[in-house]
Amino acid sequence: MQTEVHVARHDPVGRIDPNVYGQLSEHLGRCIYGGIWVGDDDRVPTEDGIRMDTVELLRDLNTPVLRWPGGCFADDYHWTDGLGPREARPRRRNMWWTQGRDNVPEESNAFGTEEFMHLCEMLGTEPYLAVNVGAGNPDEAVDWAEYCNYDGDTELTRLRADNGSEEPHNATYWGIGNENWGCGGRFSPEEYAEQFRRYANYLRGFDRVMADESLELVACGHITDSWNRRFLEHLAECVSIGQGTVYNLMDHLSVHRYHHAGSDTEFTDDQYYRLLARAQQVGEDVDRAAEALELFAPGTDIGIIVDEWGVWHPEAVFDNGLEQANTVRDALSAASVLDDLNERADVVTMANIAQTVNVLQCLVQTDEDSAWPTPTYQVFDLYKRHMGATALRTVVDSEVRAVKSIGNEFSTDGEHEVPLVTASASERDGRVYVTLSNLHRDDAREVTVTVESDDVKLDDAQALFGGLPADLYSTETNAERFTPERIEPENHGDGTVVVDAPAGSTLGLSLQV
Ligand code: AHR
Repeated sequence: MQTEVHVARHDPVGRIDPNVYGQLSEHLGRCIYGGIWVGDDDRVPTEDGIRMDTVELLRDLNTPVLRWPGGCFADDYHWTDGLGPREARPRRRNMWWTQGRDNVPEESNAFGTEEFMHLCEMLGTEPYLAVNVGAGNPDEAVDWAEYCNYDGDTELTRLRADNGSEEPHNATYWGIGNENWGCGGRFSPEEYAEQFRRYANYLRGFDRVMADESLELVACGHITDSWNRRFLEHLAECVSIGQGTVYNLMDHLSVHRYHHAGSDTEFTDDQYYRLLARAQQVGEDVDRAAEALELFAPGTDIGIIVDEWGVWHPEAVFDNGLEQANTVRDALSAASVLDDLNERADVVTMANIAQTVNVLQCLVQTDEDSAWPTPTYQVFDLYKRHMGATALRTVVDSEVRAVKSIGNEFSTDGEHEVPLVTASASERDGRVYVTLSNLHRDDAREVTVTVESDDVKLDDAQALFGGLPADLYSTETNAERFTPERIEPENHGDGTVVVDAPAGSTLGLSLQV
């Protein structure tokens, strides 16, 4: 069968928010401590305790937004613990991620708000803070916003100045808790709606004191329809929830999606394809959340944030700080998630892969004296040209593979068809950028890409992972193997480009139109 990717320039979907290429950095295992923050350890170059090898890799990705401090960690975190002279900061055990148990040290609070803001500044990235709803209170959340953003003369702004930051940090994104249906308080949707209302009421109130009303508030949603609908319905009963209303409370609704099939490096063919099928559920999660918003907050422009997503293999457990091998298979699944998010540029306002360093489907891995990129990092690097460009409707005509019972926590149903080629495209300043993956594990594909333009020049074409086995994973010594190779597609000049996509590969084509 012919494989075709058609890029419909006459059908723009919307601007791809650069924040779709964001990350989550949690106080969990070796993500913050070890991966980002090493303090006085002189085995790697640092600036203010932050390791520069990690920073340099993340800078190359143009990392747009970082979510912090969790994750589940956030709903048992008190931000004032992480301020002031480090030796005087309280050591605490956080309820999550076994801190304080066995060999996992307690939270030292060495990395707090100022260190996080410094990291964001070094990366040129937007901070996205998750406030403590489960074990905190609205006052604590508003104080944090005042500490970070207020530019007047108060006790908290003086405290900020004492900690080295005269100028406000201007943090725009504020998540009202994390997974509040689970670790973040085990609320019912109706209970969370009431918590959300309280927190958002005060944060919005603070926002009004600020002349620019710049806070964007994120509500915790769920991949199930029932949570989102019950939460939104209950909230709508009490208040106006969307932008443009009298007292709007919500700017974004978030969902999380993790998936796995088989183990990190050992999987059958069936499990290989099942993982890809599961990754493709992220797009469906977004569609479901968008439908719920359409029903309960029609006419608003509340965005959808997938603020945790990625592969979570059975090898990543509490006791190893959720570390797993990072393979080519994982990276291919990330490419297909990013294609799905690009395709939904009209509703998706942010996404954060979990997590930045060392934990789960990380982008960077470290040991004591070096840092290296994972295969998934290379996908983010190849896709970064989509950031801020206009997504174009992209129609893929490819063979599919039937996968049995992809089941998840809310469905165990039968068969799912995984398209063996996924793609997305965007346009900016006379250039169309197309990314596509041949997900077939064993067979190469010739792919015909058509772009609506009768004069197309090929700028540049690159391929990732050609010829690499799907179970190959990154280590300190082999990271070079995952870097892109230049390829030479056949350009017919009339809008048709024919490209050979090796088995299990991801390609990026830049075209002048
Ligand atoms: O990313 C790991 C954990 O997964 C996060 O802390 C939590 O929000 C989710 O369950």
